[in-house]
Amino acid sequence: MILDWVLYIHILAATVWIGGSIFLFTLGIFLRDKEAQEQVYYHIGPLYGYMESVWLTVLIATGLWMFYHLGIDNVVRHWTPPHFAYVMVVKLVLVALITIFTAIHMYIAFKTHGRERTKMEKLLSRSSSMAIFLLNLIIIWFAMQVRGAL
Ligand code: HEM
Repeated sequence: MILDWVLYIHILAATVWIGGSIFLFTLGIFLRDKEAQEQVYYHIGPLYGYMESVWLTVLIATGLWMFYHLGIDNVVRHWTPPHFAYVMVVKLVLVALITIFTAIHMYIAFKTHGRERTKMEKLLSRSSSMAIFLLNLIIIWFAMQVRGAL
């Protein structure tokens, strides 16, 4: 019963986290008016940043809870069965990468809030947001494989 609720919160967190990241990514591409884009990011940027970090924390916390509660740690340590251990480890590596890119992206966002960015800051901010976007799409695939193999 408690597992159902933890999984429910995990999936809810995944929808908010991924939905938010896809929405902001789309905004960055389709909102071409530079002035409007600056205004939007200026006003919703910090709120979005705090909200997304809370949901990423919830995702990792509920994920870790299931990981230990279901005994997946033992399965992964002994690579049994190999396919399941493999998909779980790949998912964990992707989550670690997404956490690093999120930290980079947030660091630049808060550091440059309300001022013009240097070329390097623009490059780091755009490439980390692209990486987060793509990694999310891949993580959903591996999350499905984990669930299917349980
Ligand atoms: C960005 C981070 C993450 C995302 C987007 C994510 C996404 C998801 C999604 C969508 C599911 C449901 C899959 C389905 O029903 O087919 C799921 C299940 C699962 N996730 Fe995650 N997850 C994340 C992080 C983690 C972490 C860090 C762990 C473990 C340390 C983890 C462990 C699990 C487990 C064990 C399940 C299957 C639970 C079950 O079926 O009972 N997740 N994840």
